[in-house]
Amino acid sequence: MKILVTGGAGFIGSNFVYLLLEERPDWKVVCVDALTYAANIHTLNDALKNPNFTFYKEDIRNREGIFEIFEKEHPDVVVNFAAESHVDRSIENPGIFLETNILGTQVMMDACRKYGIERFHQVGTDEVYGDLPLDRPDLFFHEDTPIHTSSPYSTSKASADLLALAYHRTYGLPVTISRCSNNYGPYQFPEKLIPLMINNASQDKKLPVYGEGLNVRDWLYVKDHCYGILAVLEKGKVGEVYNLGGHNEKANIEIVKIILEELGKPESLITYVADRKGHDQRYAIDPSKANKELGWGPTTMFKDGIKLTIDWYKNHMDWMNECTSGEYQNYYKEMYKDRV
Ligand code: NAD
Ligand code: TYD
Repeated sequence: MKILVTGGAGFIGSNFVYLLLEERPDWKVVCVDALTYAANIHTLNDALKNPNFTFYKEDIRNREGIFEIFEKEHPDVVVNFAAESHVDRSIENPGIFLETNILGTQVMMDACRKYGIERFHQVGTDEVYGDLPLDRPDLFFHEDTPIHTSSPYSTSKASADLLALAYHRTYGLPVTISRCSNNYGPYQFPEKLIPLMINNASQDKKLPVYGEGLNVRDWLYVKDHCYGILAVLEKGKVGEVYNLGGHNEKANIEIVKIILEELGKPESLITYVADRKGHDQRYAIDPSKANKELGWGPTTMFKDGIKLTIDWYKNHMDWMNECTSGEYQNYYKEMYKDRV
């Protein structure tokens, strides 16, 4: 089995690469990544030593380059993680989100059509369902919840999902889609809530909480997500969508306080800042289809996962410093200057 993973130098993609090399030692893993700001090639240092792993620096928008890789590698299965993934950046600069997330996905699927594959799996997000009200804890996202996006990011991801389903229906491409809730764990770029707060708190910098910090996200440990994708590949039905989540809803402020407590830092570091435009209130996944049909469910409790995560960042400050040197400093200044 040869599996091609796009975006494998990013957060979830790299965790998936390591899971495959460990759990499916007879599979060949080919990684394609453009190495944008969100990637760190050093994340793949151990994978690069493995003879079953091959890396290509390539942009999924580059049809010619992607087709050449398919011509050479002939993968059996493709998992498309590559994307622009940060909501705040999509609000500032939507164009690249449409290009990578929609047109890049189209290029990948066109290559799959031309060269033939057993499966194209699109890694999706629960953000395509929009948000749920904070005062209706009884409501959850189901696979048939209408698509109702809020941000340019979620809109680009929803468009990619719809295109993937259209390629299945129109061309018979063997497509599956998973839609996951917020992930946390090692190798997440520190523009996202959890690693950003860990990084700032470690340096006694202010923790910028948007609005009142009451927005709710449904957190899943990244390894559980990766097992979910593997389960969809091995047991999922072509043409189907699977929601992945672990019924672990937390308000942002709860998360920030847990991080401060774990790091032994004072709550006085918290600063409430201007809210995100169009900020989604609550995300909450109903994962019962994946539970029933794939036998999948999360195995890492949040209280354990968050400790593992904080310890990982504490022990990998070199990795964090690589991410936050250079361009990140400008990003942070620009993104947060009007907020404080
Ligand atoms: P990330 O931003 O950490 O990594 C994205 C990776 O894609 C990077 O390595 C980057 O270099 C690569 N990439 C970006 N544009 C590319 C291009 N044009 N060509 C080739 N490679 C390119 O993102 P992540 O958090 O790991 O998310 C991975 C996928 O999972 C995305 O599709 C995202 O929408 C989805 N997802 C993420 C979450 C989450 O909580 N992080 C939850 C649900 C779904
Ligand atoms: P984020 O990690 O960007 O993921 P998403 O927007 O895709 O859910 O943000 C998670 C939540 O944390 C979201 O409600 C926005 C909030 N947030 C802050 O309060 N402060 C921050 O600096 C960041 C990055 C996010």
